[in-house]
Amino acid sequence: MSRTVYVNGEFLPEAEAKVSVFDRGFLMADGVYEVTSVLGGKLLDFAGHCRRLARSLAELEMTNPHTDAEWLTLFRAVVDRNSLVDGMIYLQVTRGNPGDRDFTYPPADLPPTVVLFTQSKPGLADAPATRTGWKVISIPDVRWGRRDIKTVQLLYPSMGKMMAKKAGADDAWLVEDGKVTEGTSNNAYIVKGGRIITRELSHDILHGITRAAVLRFAKEAQMIVEERPFTIDETHAADEAFITSASAFVMPVVEIDGVKIGSGKPGPVAARLREIYLEESRKAAL
Ligand code: PDD
Repeated sequence: MSRTVYVNGEFLPEAEAKVSVFDRGFLMADGVYEVTSVLGGKLLDFAGHCRRLARSLAELEMTNPHTDAEWLTLFRAVVDRNSLVDGMIYLQVTRGNPGDRDFTYPPADLPPTVVLFTQSKPGLADAPATRTGWKVISIPDVRWGRRDIKTVQLLYPSMGKMMAKKAGADDAWLVEDGKVTEGTSNNAYIVKGGRIITRELSHDILHGITRAAVLRFAKEAQMIVEERPFTIDETHAADEAFITSASAFVMPVVEIDGVKIGSGKPGPVAARLREIYLEESRKAAL
């Protein structure tokens, strides 16, 4: 079934949706995006995604074309028009089409390109991988220095996923100066002696919306959270490991570089956090 997508004010069948060859997103990767999950037709963590979108745009001196209320109306419209029950909404905002190629930014009043599209993922919250966990490999983090901005420059994450696939793994963890930064498209955690350890927020990692929620729930459940960088050796010696993202929620990681983590099976802390995250986010979904 053909999807209905949103492009610059119009809802169109996907085959009719067009963006200019001079779009800055295409020529310069000059744009940002947000991935929001939908469960039971409702948006998870919508306010968090709006907040991060506003921050990404501001960091790139781009004007936010909509208020949060307007974004909510648009998001709900794409959910409705696609009868989306479980899945993802991708919002892409680029600096627009200046009509030619030039490194410098076009005038600030040039309208951005705004695209929204859906991906249907029936049973998203019951992914079978949750029961087996992911295997990951470690690779060097050679991305740029502003990973806190959610830009559409996803070439290295794509390369990392391909390296993982070729190695028979599910994802890659990125390592810089001997410490794990994050996964290719998720935040990374280990658990040791009951402590949940994950890198602190900085320009080095994306400030995950799921991360923020999961750490809040962990603290509310009296779990100990330690925000600091950790090494691959620590990961080998950990009791368990997991990742968080809007599309995978909380996903256990059972192996890194061929070495089993803990029992080599999904651990209880990841399972508990996943349960709390899904329960609380469903309750607050819009
Ligand atoms: N990825 N780190 C990176 C590099 C990411 O790309 C993502 C999200 C995260 C987790 O952020 P959040 O919890 O807000 O989803 C961390 C999305 C899901 C993607 O590109 O598919």
